[in-house]
Amino acid sequence: MSAWTGKRVGIAVGALVIVGLAVLAWAAIRPGPLDFAGRTVSLAEYGDDPTGVPADFPETDIVARGRYLAEAADCEACHTAPGGAPFAGGLAFRTDFGTLYSPNITPDPQTGIGSWTDEDFLRAMHEGVNKDGEYLYPAFPYPSYTYLSNEDVLAIKAYLFSLEPVHNTAPENELRFPYNQRWLMNIWAKLYNPNTRFQPVPDRSASWNRGAYLAEALGHCGDCHTPRTPLQSLDNRRKFAGGVVDGWRAYNISSDEQSGIGSWTAEELTQYLRTGHSLDRGSAFGPMALAVHLSFQKLTTSDVNALVEYIRSVPAVVTPDMPAPKLDPAPDNPSEGVVANADSHGADIYAGMCSGCHGWTGVNPYVPYTVLTGNRAVNDPTAANVALAVIHGAHPELPSTGAVARMPAFGHVLSDFDIAAVSNYVVERFGAKPSSITEADVRRLREAG
Ligand code: HEC
Ligand code: HEC
Ligand code: HEC
Repeated sequence: MSAWTGKRVGIAVGALVIVGLAVLAWAAIRPGPLDFAGRTVSLAEYGDDPTGVPADFPETDIVARGRYLAEAADCEACHTAPGGAPFAGGLAFRTDFGTLYSPNITPDPQTGIGSWTDEDFLRAMHEGVNKDGEYLYPAFPYPSYTYLSNEDVLAIKAYLFSLEPVHNTAPENELRFPYNQRWLMNIWAKLYNPNTRFQPVPDRSASWNRGAYLAEALGHCGDCHTPRTPLQSLDNRRKFAGGVVDGWRAYNISSDEQSGIGSWTAEELTQYLRTGHSLDRGSAFGPMALAVHLSFQKLTTSDVNALVEYIRSVPAVVTPDMPAPKLDPAPDNPSEGVVANADSHGADIYAGMCSGCHGWTGVNPYVPYTVLTGNRAVNDPTAANVALAVIHGAHPELPSTGAVARMPAFGHVLSDFDIAAVSNYVVERFGAKPSSITEADVRRLREAG
């Protein structure tokens, strides 16, 4: 081999190594949740502190502040089993890797966190490590809570420690090998937990920065609304482009006009977050209804406005399978309206069990909250959230809608076959594209919820 050929081979191998490393780095290093927004500075360099409770918060007591922050972070939703005491743990998280259970975070010294020091609690919230030094699974959204200031974490602890201790041990996790190896989470955390506190963006307004703290550090919207990589980290290259929770599709909330919320006004978004309803856009069901009930409806007006300002600034990302919602009402006559895909069984169920509240056009002038036209779930060609809404009904505790009756649950009345048929009928009649959800899909959705 001549010296020149050797050099050429060397250059080629070198170039390949560099390309290989670049590809690996691209795959491994994901942008952070605020990377779209521009240059950040430390909290100390930034004048207007976006952390803590809002400036107009009436109380100064640490427990009251901690309660507000714990509500904004929605700890209760995940740490409460159905029918169980709040914060006493035991809620099941069914994942592709097995089932895990949330622990008791009441101040019971034996079964809860009563013996935890401030340092133990800070380490759990910022690093995802428990009192025994074991790494926690990211079903606990500590990669969001890591952005919380020490002061806010300790206020949340003060609130939790003011609660009545509850003696309760959550069931053992049932995770498959190798996912049951907790030490693997150590590697995961090294790769995917930024383990840094919130850094404001000086080129944005003070309320935008407050909104960013509410959405990213506390409210963890991305935990449900941002798609995940195969290793379960949040894929912020497609920030807010939509995810899946307990079978429910948590829709695209980026500013894309067609598949996201780019065409929603600030008022519609505010109304939806405060009440779980927007007259033109539909209602929050499932995990989003629970988040509105336990968390978002409790935020102050200034905080909801800040949150809305921030959410609306997130760049558009397209979710290709999601068409722009159809806005025209269906004909006011059951026998009109193209029904090619849905069989007559779906139409019969709709006529008998649904049309009394929902009417035939999708817009009910007497009970405006039953509007189906323009609703994202009805325009989702997988029909998943429509089927789940029929199974579970509306969240019973959301603020009053002025509606005659809330949407009832039909899970015990209708079979999987019936639910598939009526869901396809609803999507075909009122949505932009027909769906073809099957009996087997509905069974899987029941098991996921
Ligand atoms: C999206 C669901 C979810 C939310 C929201 C959530 N947690 Fe958790 N949390 C979990 C799960 C699941 C675990 C258990 C993880 C494991 O077993 O590795 C956990 C573990 C913990 C632990 C460790 C306890 C122990 O005994 O090891 C603490 C402390 C904790 N969470 C506190 C909080 C606080 C405080 C909040 C609100 C600021 C909160 N969590 C919000 C799901 C959640
Ligand atoms: C626990 C998971 C979860 C969290 C956390 C969550 N969402 Fe949602 N969100 C959902 C689900 C599921 C839906 C779909 C609900 C439905 O179909 O009725 C949804 C729907 C929405 C919608 C309506 C979208 C549409 O096109 O109809 C908006 C807006 C929204 N969420 C905003 C937010 C914001 C802002 C946050 C954070 C402050 C947030 N969500 C946090 C699960 C979540
Ligand atoms: C008692 C009145 C009533 C009946 C009967 C009823 N609904 Fe509803 N439905 C509502 C109301 C009201 C809402 C708006 C949410 C709320 O406030 O409960 C709603 C919301 C919905 C939504 C929107 C879901 C979302 O994610 O935004 C769908 C889809 C739906 N209903 C389908 C049906 C189907 C299919 C049937 C029959 C099997 C049915 N409904 C029967 C009252 C009813």
